[in-house]
Amino acid sequence: MSFTVTDLIGDRTEQYRQLTEQAAGLVSGESDRVANAANLSSLVYHSLPDLNWVGFYFYDGHELVVGPFQGKPACIRIALGRGVCGAAAQTRETHLVPNVLAFPGHIACDGDSRSEIVIPLVREDQLLGVFDIDSPRPDRFDEIDRAGLESVAGVFLNSLRAPVAEIR
Ligand code: SME
Repeated sequence: MSFTVTDLIGDRTEQYRQLTEQAAGLVSGESDRVANAANLSSLVYHSLPDLNWVGFYFYDGHELVVGPFQGKPACIRIALGRGVCGAAAQTRETHLVPNVLAFPGHIACDGDSRSEIVIPLVREDQLLGVFDIDSPRPDRFDEIDRAGLESVAGVFLNSLRAPVAEIR
C-alpha cells in the first residue's frame, strides 16, 4: 500500500476536515496501536506547518512512556501530573499551552519547543496515553487546532477495536 500526504486546502477548519479524513484512510482496516500511532504522527507532522514534535505517549498503568513520534529523541518516561503531558493525562483534559516557558514544570525535551498542545487519549473511561504536538513558534495553536487535533486523536482511538485490557 502506498499513501500520499496530499496538500490541505481551504480554510483551517476545512483543512482539518481533510486531515481527519486522511487519518481515517490511513488507519482503515488496521487496529495495531503502534502502527496507527506511527502513521498518524507522520501524517500530522508532514501536513501541518511549524511543528517540531508530534507523537504519542502511552500510559503503562503507572506513568507515560514515549511511543511512536516524529521529531528529535524525547523524554522516555513522564509521571502523571508532570509537565504538560502529565497534566493532560492526570486531568484528562486537552492542554493548550501558548508559551511552554511559562508553564510550571514544563519538560523541555526539545529546546526548540515554544508552544504545545496535548490531548488525552481516553477510551471506556480508561487512560491510554496522550497525543502531543509541539511547535517552535509561540502561540502556534488555537481552538481550531484543538478541535482538529482532537478529531485526529478520535480517529486513533476508534481504530483500536480491541478491548482496552488487550491494548496495553
Ligand atoms: N514538553 C512535554 C514533554 C514531552 S516533549 O515535548 C516531546 C511536557 O512538558 O510534558
